[in-house]
Amino acid sequence: MTLSLIELVKNMPKAELHIHIEGSLEPELIFALAQRNGVELNYPSIEALRAAYAFTNLQSFLDIYYAGASVLLTEQDFYDMTRAYLERAHADNILHTELFFDPQTHTARGVEFGVVVNGIQRALRDAHAEWGMTGGLIMCFLRHLSEEEAFLTLEQALPYREHILGIGLDSSERGHPPEKFARVFARCKELGFHLVAHAGEEGPPAYIETALDLLQVERIDHGVRCTDDPVLMQRLALQAIPLTVCPLSNIKLCVFETMAQHNILTLLDAGLVVTVNSDDPAYFGGYMNDNLVALVKALPVQRHHARQLARNSFNAAFIDHNLKQKYLAQVDAFFAQ
Ligand code: ADE
Ligand code: ZN
Repeated sequence: MTLSLIELVKNMPKAELHIHIEGSLEPELIFALAQRNGVELNYPSIEALRAAYAFTNLQSFLDIYYAGASVLLTEQDFYDMTRAYLERAHADNILHTELFFDPQTHTARGVEFGVVVNGIQRALRDAHAEWGMTGGLIMCFLRHLSEEEAFLTLEQALPYREHILGIGLDSSERGHPPEKFARVFARCKELGFHLVAHAGEEGPPAYIETALDLLQVERIDHGVRCTDDPVLMQRLALQAIPLTVCPLSNIKLCVFETMAQHNILTLLDAGLVVTVNSDDPAYFGGYMNDNLVALVKALPVQRHHARQLARNSFNAAFIDHNLKQKYLAQVDAFFAQ
């Protein structure tokens, strides 16, 4: 039986490497948690909140995203949010997922660091027990805050080190270049964390270079603006630096006008280790498979592209050699059908 390309991308085994867990909070859950916790929202209804999801750029999204996260107070809240995402991920045939979380968004409101990590971690543990799903946490520093605050957050994270796979950098990109966090990333590297950073989403290709050279990151989150710099593109291909691309996010935040204009196939055909991810699925109109289907509908995606995206997702994952080989064999078996 030959599957249509849409069925193929939906059913193929895959990993997700760029999902902000706070960006998986659906309006329904935001309202339920607000009620449970007695938090007041600036929107009268679920529909009114959803109607506000008309973004013009990254900052216009971030303002609403941080407001949405204000309903998260208890460990159970973090569990419920993560559980809901993991169920969606499981339905999309995601076998491995690496979750970003923004501790500073919560600790600034008086929520303890441990409440955040324990709630998310417990949901990941249950998903592993029930479905064999693997995953980990990537703690992001908010780049609109100071280096000093990042160091303080790192300090708070150390008791939970065993639960944290890596360190990332997110929030407002323009005006907050990677070099602002060079020293704290150097410390994180010494401590043995994997390193990633958002770069070249809205910001210039130069931020991708400085993320690589000054922060020593292993993957670039987004990175789509690298096509503005052919030399950098060559470097990314040559050094096999993975890019965690988020197609629906790029459209919602006006990085590209339409999906037909997205450069993901250019990147893939140039040999870059591109992966597809959902970024903030509750805000951008879809989870992993929605992103893949949107690409298939708008671009001349071929079967070999789909297989490469699935293989890239596991090759770019922070997993040990044996698990990687096991997942890659599952991809190959799937495409051999
Ligand atoms: N935080 C959540 N989503 C983000 C994105 N797409 N870019 C930067 N920071 C983010
Ligand atoms: Zn992101």
